[in-house]
Parts: sequence; C-alpha cells; structure tokens
Amino acid sequence: MGSKLIGCGSAVPKLVVSNDDLAQIVDTSDEWISVRTGIRNRRVLAGDETLSGLAVMAAREALQMAELGAHDVDLVILCTSTPDDLFGGGGKIQRDLGCRNAWAFDITAACSGFIVGLITATRFMKGGGYKNILVLGADALSRYVDWTDRGTCILFGDAAGAVLVQACSADEDGLLGFDLHSDGSGQRHLNAMAVESEADVLSNMNGAPVFLPRKTSYACLQMNGKEVFRFAARCVPQSIETALEEAGLACSSIDWLLLHQANQRIIDAVASRLQVPSEKVISNLANYGNTSAASIPLALDEAVRAGKVKAGDLIAASGFGAGLTWGSAIVRF
Ligand code: ACO
Repeated sequence: MGSKLIGCGSAVPKLVVSNDDLAQIVDTSDEWISVRTGIRNRRVLAGDETLSGLAVMAAREALQMAELGAHDVDLVILCTSTPDDLFGGGGKIQRDLGCRNAWAFDITAACSGFIVGLITATRFMKGGGYKNILVLGADALSRYVDWTDRGTCILFGDAAGAVLVQACSADEDGLLGFDLHSDGSGQRHLNAMAVESEADVLSNMNGAPVFLPRKTSYACLQMNGKEVFRFAARCVPQSIETALEEAGLACSSIDWLLLHQANQRIIDAVASRLQVPSEKVISNLANYGNTSAASIPLALDEAVRAGKVKAGDLIAASGFGAGLTWGSAIVRF
C-alpha cells in the first residue's frame, strides 16, 4: 500500500500588512526586515475571517484539483497551533466541507505540523485502509504575536494550505522517505505558554485546601531568534539527508527543495549545505512571511498552480519550529 498527493489548495486573508505598515507601529524598517528575513508582506486575519474559513477554502481547492467530492474523504487532519477552538478545529472544517464519511482531528506541532500530518496520513493508509485524506496546515500566529515586539511581530502571517493524499499501490507510492524529531530541551527558545491567574492554585488557608477558580490565557509568542536560526540551519539538512537515505536517493536527484518558510537566510543556508541550486528552491515568504503549519502547503500550491512543480517531480520538504520539532518528507508529486 502506498500514498500519493493528488491535489493541493491554499487560502490567505485579504488584509496585506507591509513592512512599511509595521514601521508605523514598531521601530523597524522595510530594509531591516527584508535584508534579515526576505519578508516584505504578510496577510493577517481581519473582520469576519476565521482560520477554519481559510482552511475550508484551501480544502475545496485541493478537492477540486483531485477531482473528488467531499463525501470521498474519509479523514480530515488539521495541523495547527492556533485553532479557532482550543478543543480542536478539524471537526468544524469536516462539517463545513460536508465530509460526511470522514472523521477529523487536530495535530499540534507548530511549524512542523504539516509534515507530521502528512506522515500521519500515510500511516492511516498503510495501517488503516483509509483512501482519501485531507491534510490541512493552517495557522493564525497573528493571534499570539506581541505587536509591540519588533523582534517577532515582523516575521509571521496567517494562511491555510491543503493537500489531498490518496491511497495507491506500492508501485505508485509517492512518499519515498521521511524523518521526524523533537527536542523539548529547546522549548525555552520558542513558545507561547499558558498563563494562569494567581487565583489558579489550590490555596491552603488555615490548613484547609481552598479551591479558587482559575483564569487561564496564553502569553504572546516568545522567541530566541538566534537559537532558532542555529537549530534550523543545523538540524534541517541532517533531517533531509536522513529522509533521502531512507528513500535510497541522492540529494542531486531532487527537483525541488521546499522548506518551511521562516527566513530566507535559513532557506539559503540549508540549500547551500545540501548543494541545491537556487533555481530548485521554492520560496514565497516575501509575500506571506512565516505562516507556520500553512507555509509548506501554501508554497507547494503556488508552485503547482504556477506550473513550476509538475506531476512526477521529486520534492524534499522539511518543517521545523517550536517544540522544538523538525521533520522531512521526500515526496513524488
Ligand atoms: N527592526 C530593526 N531592528 C531590529 C528588529 C527589527 N524588526 N528586530 C531586532 N532588531 C535589532 C535588535 O534589537 C538588535 O539590536 P542591537 O544590536 O542594538 O541589540 C539587532 O537588530 C540584531 O538583532 P538580532 O535579534 O540579533 O537579529 P538577527 O540577525 O538574529 O535577526 C531574526 C533576527 C530575523 C528574528 C533571526 O534571528 C531569525 O530569523 N531567526 C529565526 C526565526 C525563525 O525562523 N523562527 C521560526 C519560528 S517557527 C515556529 O514554530 C513558530
């Protein structure tokens, strides 16, 4: 039993926030942001837009490309760290799409989420007999960014991307190798922690425990950019090499390097380490910034619709981010 990608789609919010717009609210400049990151614009949810609304739009495009109906889908996997509902957003998307023969769940693995979701989908096919799985990467980090912190607010944008993974014979298998990792010791470098009010503990007054109702929210995203940069530049090439080894392929055989779109300098450093020429590197973060779990399917969808990525192309994809988590997949499109 194998699995292959037969459709993709994406959706972004309408509101464009440029580097110059950000320079109005924090002490920064278009030049600083574009030189250090490669980012020029990002999209931000506004008005009545929702993350699940974007995910539904992206999923519809993927279904259309795959020439399938919503009733053909047997599983919906939503990869997100920023769902509309803390309890999970996959179920609502499944309902809104009309996937009446599917069930749904969420995966939280930050910017590695899409790769984790993709690998998970293939396992459901190999071990569970599933036939058509929608894998969605969707995030709205604008919800958790500190818009007064110039070190982080310049980096992120909101978006959703989707792929349709279909079961196929082992001969046609499109997932040729993968590699997944996490290292919780690096969590301190990138997180958005739960913040509980002082009244959230069981207080012991006069020897008797007293329950005080708690109030919990989430802190804004905290990041040590230099550490995350070093981690990505070190771990991502290793991970891609491991996945390629599993696939029995040399790096020179890949048609496209498709990394999580975090920073152009990270993308360039990984490409240079792997000796992948720039014309084989997919990059769209100038327009969208770091869209976390959405970045890989969003960039893939744009490249497919632009006629760059074609059926049969070999893609080395890799995600990395909070957790810390990272992972790679070698995919024949
Ligand atoms: N505009 C102008 N100056 C700035 C800005 C800004 N937006 N941000 C920081 N600076 C200043 C700093 O204050 C510092 O000034 P100082 O020298 O006077 O102290 C100087 O610029 C250098 O700051 P650094 O933080 O050292 O800049 P660096 O070159 O490391 O670039 C950046 C920062 C772009 C964040 C980089 O470290 C990076 O991209 N790291 C990786 C981030 C990343 O990929 N995150 C992935 C997250 S994925 C997920 O799971 C959510």
